[in-house]
Amino acid sequence: MCGIVGYVGHRPALDVVLDGLRRLEYRGYDSAGVAVLDGGGLAVERKAGRLANLEARLDEVGRDGFAGTSGMGHTRWATHGAPIDRNSHPHRDTAERLAVVHNGIIENFAALRAELEAAGVELTSDTDTETVAHLVGQAYAAGETAGDLPASLRAVCRRLEGAFTLVVTHADEPDQVVAARRSSPLVVGLGEGETFVASDVSAFIEHTREAVELGQDQVVVITREGYTVTDFDGEPAEVKPFTVDWDLSAAEKGGHEYFMLKEIEEQPTALADTLRGHFADGRITLDEQRLSDQELRDIDKVFVVACGSAYHSGLVAKYAIEHWTRLPVEVELASEFRYRDPVLDRATLVVAISQSGETADTLEAVRHARGQKARVLAVCNTNGAQIPRESDAVLYTHAGPEIGVASTKAFLAQVAANYLVGLALAQARGTKYPDEVAREFHALAAMPDAVRTVLERTEQIKALGRELSDAKAVLFLGRHVGYPVALEGALKLKELAYMHAEGFAAGELKHGPIALIEEGLPVVVVMPSPKGRAVLHSKLVSNISEIQARGARTIVIAEEGDETVRPFADELIEVPAVPTLLQPLVSTVPLQILAAEIARSRGYDVDKPRNLAKSVTVE
Ligand code: M6R
Repeated sequence: MCGIVGYVGHRPALDVVLDGLRRLEYRGYDSAGVAVLDGGGLAVERKAGRLANLEARLDEVGRDGFAGTSGMGHTRWATHGAPIDRNSHPHRDTAERLAVVHNGIIENFAALRAELEAAGVELTSDTDTETVAHLVGQAYAAGETAGDLPASLRAVCRRLEGAFTLVVTHADEPDQVVAARRSSPLVVGLGEGETFVASDVSAFIEHTREAVELGQDQVVVITREGYTVTDFDGEPAEVKPFTVDWDLSAAEKGGHEYFMLKEIEEQPTALADTLRGHFADGRITLDEQRLSDQELRDIDKVFVVACGSAYHSGLVAKYAIEHWTRLPVEVELASEFRYRDPVLDRATLVVAISQSGETADTLEAVRHARGQKARVLAVCNTNGAQIPRESDAVLYTHAGPEIGVASTKAFLAQVAANYLVGLALAQARGTKYPDEVAREFHALAAMPDAVRTVLERTEQIKALGRELSDAKAVLFLGRHVGYPVALEGALKLKELAYMHAEGFAAGELKHGPIALIEEGLPVVVVMPSPKGRAVLHSKLVSNISEIQARGARTIVIAEEGDETVRPFADELIEVPAVPTLLQPLVSTVPLQILAAEIARSRGYDVDKPRNLAKSVTVE
């Protein structure tokens, strides 16, 4: 949601922090701010809008007070208080000696604010964060924790409800930065004579790949020499060190205008990396398997919970898992799941899909499922994030860092990982023979090449995108696994091009949506294979002819050599022939390119669509 970074070292903190914020800006871009400890003082600057506004502001006021080598920064996705200067982080205590940045929500902030106001504190922002700044400032100034910054933060954390990561600096403590974590992410980066804390490793990857993942309810103190971690009561706590397996180039644009375009191109690699190592000695393996084959055999129902694109990947999974395992699969929006009292027990497997591993709706669904004794398997792209930490088993997608807010390579990697989950279940339950599992896996392993073939058509698709950039609305139709692809295509267009876009199951058209068809309306149709699903194919051809007869402009994604559909396609985008269940891996790609190009032609920021953030850590 928000991006935070803290630093103590030997370089100018302002440069390190601004570089870190640049890489974290995908997490939120409503405002940005920095605090640097310099010569016994605390220099703070903050500005509404993108990081560029903050940098311009720093140029305007001068960077003289910001020469210190410890500090912190924040990039915000607003929750409490409008995205204006005075609500931007860092927030300070009344004495203006202490500063706090925060990611998450303090749920009991109204009570804390009332307490502070009753004691005569004047709050200058509408945020929940400012209450923390005053409370830690008071705890540091007097009483049991006076003069002890980590102890002051711990004491305040014990009073906070909600999910939060906090980073705190104090003018009297220039050699340390203190941070706390509950549910929201926080990692420590270990350099030579310098230490970092950040929402994710991309903030410090240019300086070090050695990192430490903090656990729940922990406080870390970073200094030039390293770090110490305790729980909120001050007891030493365990952490998990790890080495990041990608480098700076993965987190940079590499000559592309936008991260999203680079990430679309990286999809063959993302798929190959996700599949790598999961089929050995004729068997599918997961990453962290804390469920035995016997437990997988005892499963009698599967729920898939996720949000946004991850949810669409779950819809695709339903077709594969049901077909391969004969288990009933329900796919549920994570935000709805726990509020409708789903029937869960020990024999239920809940597959929680999340790129970030920190989406609050999905995390709460996981907690609810585990509370009901269901088994949870996480499909996640972020090593050690909260969702995999709280799950019984984990399958990581190895898409690498996804910076563009619109999910592309992570989505494709999720679809591939979900197939692995289906095959792992089929293998454990014996609903597929080992040679059948091997065949399915090898078909999957051929998909990176198929996606490469689709990418060769990028220029054709972009040209079409430019033609469509004036359209008022676009409809997307699909059947079977093409239906979730249609939903995903519509989501991409909505979030990037701010255009009205709807995805429909093509068979539903005649039950209402056909009334939307008017002269010239672009309708994108995702065709099934004429060989794989001949019955559906002919039905979809009829659907296209119905809308074409009513004036729609038909844009058809179809298998190479599908001549039957050609007369009904005003525009034809061909994709390679692949097995029916795997078609979303090729048919989604043109829709991603189309949405990005329409957004670009309309002059929008493809990587940072308005009102959105990459990971949504509030419900
Ligand atoms: O990190 P997650 O996979 O849990 O995120 C879920 C959704 O917020 C995400 O897929 C969102 O819908 C994307 N912006 C879609 O492009």
